[in-house]
Amino acid sequence: MDPTPEAVSKITVPLILERKLRGEKITCLTAYDFPTARLVDESGIDVILVGDTLGEVILGYDSTLPVTVEDVLHHLRAVRRGARRALLIADLPFGSYHVSEDQAVAAAIRYVKEGGAEAVKLEGGRKRAALIRRLAEESIPVMAHIGLTPQSIHALGGHRVQGKTPDSARDLLRDAQAVEDAGAFSVVLEGIPRELAALITQRLRIPTIGIGAGPECDGQILVFHDLVGMSLGRRPKFVRAYANLAEVIQSAVKNYRADVRDGHFPEDAESYHWPSVTREHFEKDREPQALRAKG
Ligand code: KIV
Repeated sequence: MDPTPEAVSKITVPLILERKLRGEKITCLTAYDFPTARLVDESGIDVILVGDTLGEVILGYDSTLPVTVEDVLHHLRAVRRGARRALLIADLPFGSYHVSEDQAVAAAIRYVKEGGAEAVKLEGGRKRAALIRRLAEESIPVMAHIGLTPQSIHALGGHRVQGKTPDSARDLLRDAQAVEDAGAFSVVLEGIPRELAALITQRLRIPTIGIGAGPECDGQILVFHDLVGMSLGRRPKFVRAYANLAEVIQSAVKNYRADVRDGHFPEDAESYHWPSVTREHFEKDREPQALRAKG
């Protein structure tokens, strides 16, 4: 049975690994700011990811590629202030781990020291195995990310489902095994056929976290703004919007605008008042003028 949020006071990396052994699903969501982190955390979500999707859903870029370590750190600090129970993971953005392992370790250490991250996520399978091993040796837990890896959209030719052919499916199986062998504590499977995700999930000891990878994964992750219906761009097939916040927000803003224009906002109850002594003072001041006006 899934423990209630109250039953566990802090989600840790070992606890995430245990969840797989117990067959308990792992719930993950992105968050990029303090209030969202607080709400997500208090809702009992196990893992909060400060993903580089912040570039698209928060900063308005059309991909994750321009996101920097500074961008992630800025949002990570805000999320840290809101998240108490969930395991907090921060994404290494494009360019922050591609030049050298030292560069990646330096960025990951900044996430831990300056942002309060408890783990990092990075994209890639076999080609990132050495880096994952190095980070794990430095006691920085790594969540790997394979399949449709958005930092590689130019190489992949867009947001295309991966692992559909026998060769590419075999490649992804090898990638999954490589990140586990290198010491990753979990792996995101994005945009791959359900059958392949099920096979990887069955073969690995570490938990698989799916996004567009079917229900057999050990856990699921979604972008917060997709979940609440607040992302303004494309909505992939795998997204289930549990609310339509865009509509709620727009209706609130339109009502506010109409009330201001019609003089219905603010009302007296929404205004501050002088204490009687101040009111009397100014009323006295006004008296001679009133008399002059009459005379
Ligand atoms: O950056 C991100 O938010 C992600 C998740 C969608 C897995 O990588």
